Amino acid sequence: MKLKQVFEGVFLLGDQIATKNLIKGRSYSEKIINFDGKEYRVWNPEKSKAAAAITKGIKNFPIKKGSKILYLGIAQGQTASYFSDIIGNDGIIYGVEFSARAVSDLVIACENRSNIVSIKADARKPEDYSWVEKVDVVYEDVADPEQVAILLRNCEAFLKKDGYAMIGIKARSIDVTMDPKKVFQESLEMIKNKMEILDYVTLDPYEADHAFIVCRSK
Ligand SMILES: C[S@@+](CC[C@H](N)C(=O)[O-])C[C@H]1O[C@@H](n2cnc3c(N)ncnc32)[C@H](O)[C@@H]1O
Repeated sequence: MKLKQVFEGVFLLGDQIATKNLIKGRSYSEKIINFDGKEYRVWNPEKSKAAAAITKGIKNFPIKKGSKILYLGIAQGQTASYFSDIIGNDGIIYGVEFSARAVSDLVIACENRSNIVSIKADARKPEDYSWVEKVDVVYEDVADPEQVAILLRNCEAFLKKDGYAMIGIKARSIDVTMDPKKVFQESLEMIKNKMEILDYVTLDPYEADHAFIVCRSK
């Protein structure tokens, strides 16, 4: 098997993408590969939109060692656990989630990951977590008709100058009657008014009617 770095902290092991486990011996239910004395966690594109976007060939992935991230819709922390591997203990993830059940699962799942802070709040109301510091990256994965507006509002409140945002867009949540391609175009237009688009990919066959956008503040 060959190891190749595709982005800082993201590797191709054979034909699977993976991150180096920050908490050796601890995993969710993902496959673990031991390679060259190190433990890697396979990042399944069918279970994570960020992994699907990397597999679909995005050229920009702004999460790095030491990054500070605001994660909107962190759920139980599956994708966030890979971000946690990449940023290491010098970085931090502020994870916003409004489901009490998901937050309690997140707290248990991430008890050994001290770089994840869970925040039970509604991402539509950034004023409720205004104590969060400025971040390098805002990542959003919420299924909400207003999901682009929610991203932009949070970027305005928390994103550093020259910071990045990534969003997984679920067309059916925005407008179930509209052609997904039209939903994606309208979302891109909204984002373009405020940010520079760096990457745009659809996530099929991993997620039907989803797109993923990477952008940078203007
Ligand atoms: C698709 S799941 C996220 C999966 C997660 N990002 C991952 O890849 O591991 C979407 C999550 O967003 C949460 N959510 C939806 N709307 C929200 C809002 N307005 N504020 C906070 N969380 C929200 C849902 O409760 C759900 O847990």
